[in-house]
Amino acid sequence: MDLLQNICKKASLANKRIVLPEGEEPRSVEAAVKISQSKIAKVTLIASEDVIKKKYPGTNLKDVNIFDPKKNSVDKYIDRLFELRKKKGLTREDAVKLVANPLYLGTLMLECGDADGMVAGAINSTGDVLRPALQIIKTAPGISTVSSCFIMIMPKGSKYGQDGVMVFGDCAVMPNPNAEQLADIAIASAASAKSICGIDPKVAMLSFSTKGSAKHELVDKVVEATALAKKYAPDLDIDGELQADAALVESVGKLKSPDSAVAGKANVLIFPDLASGNIGYKLVQRLAGAEAVGPICQGLNKPVNDLSRGCSVEDIVNVVAMTALQCK
Ligand code: ACO
Repeated sequence: MDLLQNICKKASLANKRIVLPEGEEPRSVEAAVKISQSKIAKVTLIASEDVIKKKYPGTNLKDVNIFDPKKNSVDKYIDRLFELRKKKGLTREDAVKLVANPLYLGTLMLECGDADGMVAGAINSTGDVLRPALQIIKTAPGISTVSSCFIMIMPKGSKYGQDGVMVFGDCAVMPNPNAEQLADIAIASAASAKSICGIDPKVAMLSFSTKGSAKHELVDKVVEATALAKKYAPDLDIDGELQADAALVESVGKLKSPDSAVAGKANVLIFPDLASGNIGYKLVQRLAGAEAVGPICQGLNKPVNDLSRGCSVEDIVNVVAMTALQCK
């Protein structure tokens, strides 16, 4: 059984409730049918029942829950949003307007315990999907940074990662993390690698320098983040600063960082900022032919995950399954 099949199987045992706020969008509707039929999760689509009937007349949605905001009361969600954000200057009128946005409504369903996780982004930007979660759901206890990782599944026969599976972070959320935030990203990505992929994490803090080969404030940030991550997670195999070749290639790792438990064996790559992370995962996806699953958000108190706007139905199914595994 491959990794994604395994994740879907584990998700079906978890039996979680996942809300898809882009509920009138064709890929989301098709994914909802597949998820329900394969019992990966219980899905709620936020959608107009009339639009669904008109646009998808032959589709079997009998096991899919449809939440139509025109036919169901949303008052408790407006009350909750107002309560949470009035100290930030939000008025009740603002709350009414925001709850009319399905991304806010879906997030409030999570907040109020009416769903366990949310997946969106087929027709909305990353920022628009995550902002309600950052404002409403907030970070899990003890965590101050929300970040993300991608699960990178290399083509068959690849010598990289654990059985060809690697985790890259952060490629989608924090534009310019400081050393403290980068340490958080490393620890959270290692935890995701373990919980979602069953990987024994070996975390490389990437830079354009290996163990002092270059001097620059951008290198200093990675050195400081590595020290902080080691302090906060002393049992984790983590090392830096490492160049990508020293992290991945055994002979180069031995040459450039001979005493490292990670160099040449890394399966979790931590990029110093969002530019390098986003460019890096897309290069590996396109040039190496890796499957990129994610971004998987880390650090939220309840799981919300973002899709790429180019996502397929299968991508939505997979991200829903992973979201189910992140639910408490
Ligand atoms: N962790 C924890 N809390 C956060 C974080 C974070 N990473 N970022 C923002 N917040 C909190 C803020 O403290 C604030 O809380 P408050 O309102 O209660 O005070 C709230 O979230 C909103 O903060 P803003 O700064 O107004 O949020 P912003 O509009 O900057 O949105 C976002 C945050 C969406 C994560 C932004 O950083 C962003 O757009 N990141 C880049 C996303 C992106 O474009 N990725 C690339 C494409 S993805 C792909 O290719 C797959």
